[in-house]
Amino acid sequence: MTTIAVNAGGQRYDVVIGPLAAAADRLQQLARGRTLPVVSDARVWALHGQALAVLLPVRPLFVPEGEEAKQWPHLQALITRFTEFNLDRSTPVLALGGGSIGDLTGIAAGLFKRGCPVVHIPTTLLAQADSAVGGKTAIDAEGQKNLVGLFHQPALVLADPALLDTLDARQLRAGYAEVVKYGLIDDPAFFAWCEANGQALLAGDQALVEQAIATCIRAKARTVEHDVEDKIGTRALLNLGHTFGHAIESAAGLGTSLHGEAVALGMCLAHDFSVELGLCPQADAARVREHLASIGLPTTLAEMELERGRLLLLMSADKKNDAGKLKLVLTRGVGGAFLSDGVASGPLATFLEGAR
Ligand SMILES: NC(=O)c1ccc[n+]([C@@H]2O[C@H](COP(=O)([O-])OP(=O)(O)OC[C@H]3O[C@@H](n4cnc5c(N)ncnc54)[C@H](O)[C@@H]3O)[C@@H](O)[C@H]2O)c1
Ligand SMILES: [Zn+2]
Repeated sequence: MTTIAVNAGGQRYDVVIGPLAAAADRLQQLARGRTLPVVSDARVWALHGQALAVLLPVRPLFVPEGEEAKQWPHLQALITRFTEFNLDRSTPVLALGGGSIGDLTGIAAGLFKRGCPVVHIPTTLLAQADSAVGGKTAIDAEGQKNLVGLFHQPALVLADPALLDTLDARQLRAGYAEVVKYGLIDDPAFFAWCEANGQALLAGDQALVEQAIATCIRAKARTVEHDVEDKIGTRALLNLGHTFGHAIESAAGLGTSLHGEAVALGMCLAHDFSVELGLCPQADAARVREHLASIGLPTTLAEMELERGRLLLLMSADKKNDAGKLKLVLTRGVGGAFLSDGVASGPLATFLEGAR
């Protein structure tokens, strides 16, 4: 079992990587004898609800699977369920599921009575290695990804890699894209580790999965601690591939491509665009595409059914943009990501038209 402490602007919490049962006392301490609500979807609950229910009294509150959950009506319905549950401000809400469940539960818990504690029990590789930590929550709105959200740090994160055994190969691959991201941002040795171990990790090697999760969470914790509310620019690096990726998700129709798939392609495009701007060696961009493609992740726009013309429009509406200036995470090569705040839309439009 590995425990990683996160200090997020005065809020300190642990991320425990290891068997859920080993963290039973932590959950019981938070529950103080109360029955806790668990936000989950029917699939995840059927597979893993019992593993939680044997540890303490819990009651499931169901929301739809995947990205579909991140919509106003489901946020509203969840608030109604909290009210029916008679939830008070000190009762933790558990989020058992992937990043979508985490994002929806996080925003609902953050809003309810101006904030009640949330405990994340992520069940996808993406959520264990990335989204459960850092306190970003959101729903999609107006056809745009993560348009409405708030920061709400969890009280505890329990990441049990054994829960990933039931995850299908496509979801696992999508989560792996976010793992690779941590190498590409500032850890070239970790990217090389991914190249060497990615296939075995995705084949289910538990030790490698745990190692990857711990590496990503340590990196995320460092970044979040430095820039809790994404204002300095360091946390923005975690968005490598995401400005392209979110636009791809929205243009393809939210929920069509998985978030991690869009991020994989987005990271390839961020490297390609950096090559075009003379910032990144061509060989690095090729290396990134080769590794992600070898895993079976999408790496070219040609693989996607979407209207290219909408991408620039969507990228221009990105949250990171400031006073009309397009901010984009670009790179000087593997491990050399940086935030560029003066990206002109002309070269980006030309790039998007011609991108493979
Ligand atoms: N808040 C953040 O910092 C942050 C970071 C990255 C991504 N995200 C968000 O996370 C979402 C993507 O999350 P995701 O990739 O985890 O997918 P998801 O939550 O959208 O969907 C997961 C799917 O896999 C199923 N599933 C989950 N766990 C399973 C298990 N153990 N076994 C079998 N099936 C299982 C679920 O039923 C669901 O169908 C996106 O909306 C993205 O925007 C948020
Ligand atoms: Zn992401």
